[in-house]
Amino acid sequence: MHDKILILDFGSQVTQLIARRVREAHVYCEIHPNDVSDAFVREFAPKAIILSGSHASTYEAEDLRAPQAVWDLGVPVLGICYGMQTMAAQLGGAVEGGKTREFGYAEVRAHGHTRLLDGIQDFATAEGHGMLKVWMSHGDKVTALPPGFKLMASTPSCPIAGMADEARGYYAVQFHPEVTHTVQGRALLERFVLQIAGAKPDWVMRDHVEEAVARIREQVGDEEVILGLSGGVDSSVAAALIHRAIGEQLTCVFVDHGLLRLNEGDMVMDMFAGKLHARVIRVDASELFLGELAGVSDPEAKRKIIGRLFVDVFKAEAAKLKAGTEGHKGATFLAQGTIYPDVIESGGAKTKKATTIKSHHNVGGLPEQLGLKLLEPLRDLFKDEVRELGVALGLPHDMVYRHPFPGPGLGVRILGEVKKEYADLLRRADAIFIEELRNFRDEASGKTWYDLTSQAFTVFLPVKSVGVMGDGRTYDYVVALRAVQTSDFMTADWAELPYALLKKVSGRIINEVRGINRVTYDVSSKPPATIEWE
Ligand code: XMP
Repeated sequence: MHDKILILDFGSQVTQLIARRVREAHVYCEIHPNDVSDAFVREFAPKAIILSGSHASTYEAEDLRAPQAVWDLGVPVLGICYGMQTMAAQLGGAVEGGKTREFGYAEVRAHGHTRLLDGIQDFATAEGHGMLKVWMSHGDKVTALPPGFKLMASTPSCPIAGMADEARGYYAVQFHPEVTHTVQGRALLERFVLQIAGAKPDWVMRDHVEEAVARIREQVGDEEVILGLSGGVDSSVAAALIHRAIGEQLTCVFVDHGLLRLNEGDMVMDMFAGKLHARVIRVDASELFLGELAGVSDPEAKRKIIGRLFVDVFKAEAAKLKAGTEGHKGATFLAQGTIYPDVIESGGAKTKKATTIKSHHNVGGLPEQLGLKLLEPLRDLFKDEVRELGVALGLPHDMVYRHPFPGPGLGVRILGEVKKEYADLLRRADAIFIEELRNFRDEASGKTWYDLTSQAFTVFLPVKSVGVMGDGRTYDYVVALRAVQTSDFMTADWAELPYALLKKVSGRIINEVRGINRVTYDVSSKPPATIEWE
């Protein structure tokens, strides 16, 4: 049994980062909504509790309180931003609305020699006060300490920027230690989790493989599992993990919709069927997909068609497998590569409002329709943990650290109507771009430009432009290169790729891919543009 930290989410944009930092300290933690029941908190049996920030204010939000059990359990509690304010409000202090919002960089002075901040500082003032460089984002602030608390930190505009009741193990900070702009944030969270809460740092990927394998064996017993393999990181790691656990009891279904990258289908088969000796059924459905997409140019309509056909094809294969094939009695489980951020996003929908900008491709609802039980072995893991797990399972580094690829594939990278001719040109141009990103290294960091970008790809524009080649005039298609840097894919900057790299890529595409005579570079950030063009 791992020691666990409970993170209560009051709706901040950065709550997930708290969990990331705690897990980086090798301590297991989970995020749950702030309004879980007292019984839930007691049963969770946390070693400590962290209260997140919020977009709300303590006045507006009467229901945004920590459950009473948080204060009754006798475990350390850390309040962050709104978490500090609710701690003050619930324990007898006072909170007031600030006249101005404080947002961004601040320097905080430490007071009172608390265990949380002892020895943690960025610099000292001439008078010898320890100072922290932090990131603040708040309107309200605590104006009176609750009984039993002492001052732990202050800034000129926020006199109570941190408070502590060391006897009870309660600490709170108005700034955000979970963001990287707070230089000592990681040290502070580690101090809280490891020293103050005394949690064991036993969340280690090596052990996780063994635990996860044991859990899958227990859950599945001698039954059979089917899994939709897309070639993406999550489904690949899930497949490798489940295969490690139950071998032949797993069947992977790989639906090739004809909108994959160059040689991608063969690579997936080579890895799973070839190297891992997993049972993989490859369904070549490219004609079906391209047929249904003919004449359709609206982006949302294209997505819906691809999503629907994908589910249909998968369902048909799953139904066959459910009935059982030679030597197999039939699947009772459907495995999915759901990861922790997916779980939080669907569970935390109550406090978060999201508009659908693009309808994303997913297979929700499938297990019920198929009458299958769900197996989701990556549900507890963040993306980088999934990658670490993939490497621990022996998947190739290049596969595990691949840029994300959208479910509808090249279908959303060919603008307007999708045609096989366009997909074939795009595949070749894109492969050249990716190959050169992997070849070019940034001298300062020693990293390749593939690793320095979060996502990079080529977009096919169905317009023709004039060019000259040799002595002749050409009239051919245009492609756009897209490369972005982002940490969360919600916002993104276009990458400042070296001109030498762009030059090499454009030269190679125009020379090697007959049918394309012009290459452009997309210099739009998100927002207002999105990462994909459709
Ligand atoms: P946008 O274009 O919305 O993309 O800025 C953000 C991230 O999401 C990916 N994306 C998708 N992934 N199905 C997916 O599985 C989709 O329909 C889809 N649309 C966009 C995109 O590649 C980027 O990483």
